[in-house]
Amino acid sequence: MTERVFNFSAGPAMLPEPVLEEARENLLSLGDTGIGILEHSHRGPAFKKVYEDAVAHCRQLADIPEDYHILFLHGGASMQFCMLPMNFLTPDATADYLITGRWSQRAIEQAQRFGQTHVVCSSKDRNFCYIPKERQYSERPTYVHFTSNNTIYGTQFTTEPDVPEGAFLACDASSDIFSRPIDITKYGLIYAGAQKNLGPSGIALAIIRDDLVQRGAENLPDMLQYRTHAKHNSAYNTPSTFGIYVMGLVFKWLLDQGGLAAMEERNRAKANKLYEYLDQSSLFQPTADADSRSMMNITFVTGNDELDAKFCSEAAEQGLAGLKGHRSVGGMRASIYNAFPERGVDALIDFMRDFEAKNG
Ligand SMILES: Cc1ncc(COP(=O)(O)O)c(C=O)c1O
Repeated sequence: MTERVFNFSAGPAMLPEPVLEEARENLLSLGDTGIGILEHSHRGPAFKKVYEDAVAHCRQLADIPEDYHILFLHGGASMQFCMLPMNFLTPDATADYLITGRWSQRAIEQAQRFGQTHVVCSSKDRNFCYIPKERQYSERPTYVHFTSNNTIYGTQFTTEPDVPEGAFLACDASSDIFSRPIDITKYGLIYAGAQKNLGPSGIALAIIRDDLVQRGAENLPDMLQYRTHAKHNSAYNTPSTFGIYVMGLVFKWLLDQGGLAAMEERNRAKANKLYEYLDQSSLFQPTADADSRSMMNITFVTGNDELDAKFCSEAAEQGLAGLKGHRSVGGMRASIYNAFPERGVDALIDFMRDFEAKNG
């Protein structure tokens, strides 16, 4: 088999190797069933157990109270940009959005189709390189939406934003879910596309409080109502069985690693190493403000586009793949989600040191 490289891609991204190995084992036969995981009916007992384990492990991992539903939904995180306002935002009501990057911008654009929106704060003035501290809420928002980690710009919230009375908090946590402990009770809805910290692309995890499930609009197509998916245990139609299976394995792997507090410790150690190197480098500069830095996506530049391109191509030759930054920031981005190993960060720093010595 070709040797695996360190893949710094922003997503789909590296998954834990034991998870990939277990999935490979079960492709031809899930346990002793003689039927592969991709071939099992979503209504059969073997998959029912896969689903129940995934939900139970997720609940245990993030200490999710019983009055929250754990849903596996189609359409990635982007479908949640639409489902959230469709279910909860009426034409005469207002939803508040914190605009900290392209994904929150996309989210508010979807909400604008269904009701009023209000921008609580925006970091667009400096190309989203910081998390704004000044925030102004509308008078009576239905909900407040934020993006906990900004994948493209390498910024991350350290705490949840305030929520005016009567509103609920909704969060797109696609690129940092389960990378640190989380108090689910602060949220009405938290969702994440799976392809960074959880599993394969095309599926989203949504954790939603029961009263909201009951309150959602009823004049929507069934597939777009949270209540449909809650009532049918995410199997109203054929779900992404493989996606649920892999997510379940990832939840179990996270528990085996010591849970979310242990993950945070590791993620912090990995990110700190890289930021420490960047802070003393005379060639590379981090692009995010120091108080807004992400533990998951670390963005940096040399200030010279040609040198950035040379860096990315030479790094790839050394088995350090996917380092090219998003086109709206340029430079480099090292995405180091839960499953990204610390030795990959060490290898990147060694390479950067060497590159700096030759090109600095
Ligand atoms: C923070 C964030 N939100 C949403 C998305 C969109 O996710 P999806 O492609 O699953 O719709 C991404 C994708 O990279 C993301 O990083």
